[in-house]
Amino acid sequence: MNKESIDVCFKGQGLDLPIFFYEQTDSTNLRAWQETEKQSDGFEGDCLYVADAQNAGRGRRGRSWESPAGKNLYFSLVLKPALPTECLSMVTLVMALSIAQAIEQLTGKCAGIKWPNDIVLEKRKVCGILTQLKLSGTKTDFLVIGVGINVKSQQFSEELADIAGALEELCGKAVEREQLLAQMLKQFYENYRLFAEAGDFSPLKQAYEELLIGKDGPVRVLDPQGEYEGISRGITATGELLVERGCGEIEQVFAGEVSVRGLYGYV
Ligand code: BTN
Repeated sequence: MNKESIDVCFKGQGLDLPIFFYEQTDSTNLRAWQETEKQSDGFEGDCLYVADAQNAGRGRRGRSWESPAGKNLYFSLVLKPALPTECLSMVTLVMALSIAQAIEQLTGKCAGIKWPNDIVLEKRKVCGILTQLKLSGTKTDFLVIGVGINVKSQQFSEELADIAGALEELCGKAVEREQLLAQMLKQFYENYRLFAEAGDFSPLKQAYEELLIGKDGPVRVLDPQGEYEGISRGITATGELLVERGCGEIEQVFAGEVSVRGLYGYV
């Protein structure tokens, strides 16, 4: 993968945003953040940062993200959305849905979403999303949506061996990274337009819930105030997970870790 091969795939797809490609970088999220902060020309459009390898890939909750060369997709999309800050957490859900849809469009395999934004195939995590926000007071300067997708067959570290998987292996089909990137972004902009017009996630809620793993099944919510179990009942129009507790009360989960029975070692 290189800048030219990405340009070829993007041509004629209506994706005319600047692309910065790195054979290797520390983290595309970090690159995107620092370069956007430096932009002195007041450029208001979106930008895409893509790398073939990262040596300091970041995951959620301070974890690292394994990022070997020649195997996977690592990219960060910078948006400068004119949206109220309370809408911004939903943008990650828009991206998760778009990735799952693009995977199905390209491979015919139905990928699931583990709330809020892991993409899962055959019970293995193939993609993670890390969104970072730059705020000035109450105003959003920009949003960096970082996506890592395991594409080619590879040896994962011992820690991930039972959790992670690669798209090609799980789909039994060759996947061109550039093509996947173009398809995901096309899908993202279609979904994003619906979301921005509505001002919330309602136009996408049904499609998201159809792919939501563990809906109407047991989940464990690792709430900092205390862990609890319940039944997943889908999401709200603003993207919170609904969890029904034993007493019949329904909790809205805004953030935090949720384990789904049967996934990632939760039995
Ligand atoms: C997760 O922990 O599930 C989120 C992982 C996000 C990884 C991607 S790879 C491209 C971008 N750059 C990073 O450093 N992280 C994100």
